[in-house]
Amino acid sequence: MPATVLIGAQWGDEGKGRVADWLAGDADVVARFAGGDNAGHTVVVGSKVFKLHLVPSGILHERVICVLGNGMVVNPVRMLEEIDGLAALGVDVSPGRLLVSTRAHLISPAHIALDTASEKARGKESIGTTLRGIGPAYMDKTGRRGIRAGDMNDLETFGDALHITLEQANETLVSQGYTPVDANSAVSDYINAAIRLRPYLHDTTAYLNERLRGGTRVLCEGAQGTLLDIDHGNYPFVTSSSPTVGGALTGLGFGPRYVDRVVGVAKAFSTRVGSGPMPTELEGPLAERLRGTGENFWDEFGTTTGRPRRCGWLDMVVLRYAAQVNGFTELLLTKLDVLSGFDELQIATAYIIDGKHHSLLPATNSDIENATPIYETLPGWKEDISGARRFDDLPAAAREYIRRVSELCDTPIHTVSVGPEREQLVHRV
Ligand code: GDP
Ligand code: IMO
Ligand code: MG
Repeated sequence: MPATVLIGAQWGDEGKGRVADWLAGDADVVARFAGGDNAGHTVVVGSKVFKLHLVPSGILHERVICVLGNGMVVNPVRMLEEIDGLAALGVDVSPGRLLVSTRAHLISPAHIALDTASEKARGKESIGTTLRGIGPAYMDKTGRRGIRAGDMNDLETFGDALHITLEQANETLVSQGYTPVDANSAVSDYINAAIRLRPYLHDTTAYLNERLRGGTRVLCEGAQGTLLDIDHGNYPFVTSSSPTVGGALTGLGFGPRYVDRVVGVAKAFSTRVGSGPMPTELEGPLAERLRGTGENFWDEFGTTTGRPRRCGWLDMVVLRYAAQVNGFTELLLTKLDVLSGFDELQIATAYIIDGKHHSLLPATNSDIENATPIYETLPGWKEDISGARRFDDLPAAAREYIRRVSELCDTPIHTVSVGPEREQLVHRV
C-alpha cells in the first residue's frame, strides 16, 4: 500500500514540516493537498533552515517529485518568490520536480484585500487569519466563480477573467470604505507569473493515480491542523479548507484503497495562533517557558506571520478527537525536548462542562469555552534529551509521558522528536 497521510493533530505548527522531511526519505512523491501559503513549515538540514509555505517539504530530497494538489489555493506571485528563494539556497525547483494541479484555485490580490477587510469588519470577533487571502479564495471556489491554475494556460482569457473578478471585488472593497486593488498592475503581475508557472501545470490527479497504480510511495503532507478544519475544527475559528484525512483524498483525487498509514503529528504541549477556544491555555511564566524567548527559530512565534503562539499543556481531549476524526494509525510527538526541566508536567485527560464529564471534544465553542480541564500530573525530568535517538536513551519520566499519551488516545507512538534537526528523532526499536 503506497500512500501515507501526515496530519496535524492540534491547531497547526505541530512540526509537520520536519516530520514530512523525515518521511520523505522513504517516499517517491510528496504532495500537499490543502491550504496555501497560510502554512509555514520549518525544516532544518545541516546548517540550513528552510521555511516552506506552498512547496512540499519533500523538495529537500533530491529524488522526490513534489505535487501541489487540486485542494490547494495558490498565489502565483508568492509561489514564484518561494521557488526563487529555494533555488537561491541550491534546491532544484525545476518544473520536472514540482507539479501544480491545473485544478488548484488561484489567490488574487483582491482575495488578500478582502481577507483584511473581513477581519476588520469582525472587530473583536476576528479569526486572526494569516491575511493571505485564503478564506476569500475558497469562497470563490465554492461559489463557483474561482480562477484555476489551469486557466493560466490561455493568457488572454486569464487576464480578462482576472480583471473582471478584481473589478467585482473592488466594488465590494470601495463600498466598505477600503482602497481598491490596482487591477491593471495586478493583471500584469499575474500574466508575468503565469508565463513562468505554465511549465509547472499538470493534471496531477492523473499523474498521482498512475504512479500509485505502479506502486510509487506517496506522502501526503498536511498543512494546518485538525482543529482548524472547516468541518471538524472550532468553527468559525478555523481555516477554509479540510486539513484532515478526507481532505487528502479530495485534495489529490485518489481513493482510500491506497492509504495504509495515517500519521498524526502532535506537539508535546499545545499551541495555537489566532483566536478561538483553547481550554488548556496558560498565562504568565509557564506559558512563557513553553513559548520560549523568540531567540531560537523553534520558539513559539509563527513561521508565516511572526505572531507569538498561545501556549498550554497537552490536551488529550483534542488528541483523542483528532485520532477519531482522522483514524490515526500512529501518533508522532514533537518538541519533547522543550519539556525538559519541569518538576511536574500536566496533561488534560477530560473536560468538565456544566458538571458533566467529557472525554471527547464537544461540538460547540461555547461548551469548549466553558470547559474546565481535568489534569493528570506526571513527573518531569531534568536531563537534556536532545541527543537521545532510541527510547532507551530517554529518562524514565519521559518514557512514561509518551506511554501515557499513547494510552490516553489509544494510538501507538513509535517516534518522538527531540529537536528541530533532521536526525533529532527517537525511534522505538
Ligand atoms: P508545521 O507548520 O507543523 O510544519 O510546524 P512549524 O514549522 O510551523 O513549527 C514547528 C517549529 O518547531 C519549527 O520551528 C521547527 O523547526 C521546530 N521543531 C520541530 N520539531 C521540533 C523538536 O522536536 N524540538 C524543537 N525544539 N523544535 C522542533
Ligand atoms: P501550518 O501548516 C497555525 C490559522 C490562523 C487562523 C486560522 C485561519 O504552518 O500548521 P487563514 O489564514 O487560514 O484563513 O487563518 O487558521 N492558521 C494556522 N495556524 N499553522 C498554520 O499552518 C495555519 N494556517 C492557518 O492563525 O487562526
Ligand atoms: Mg507552521
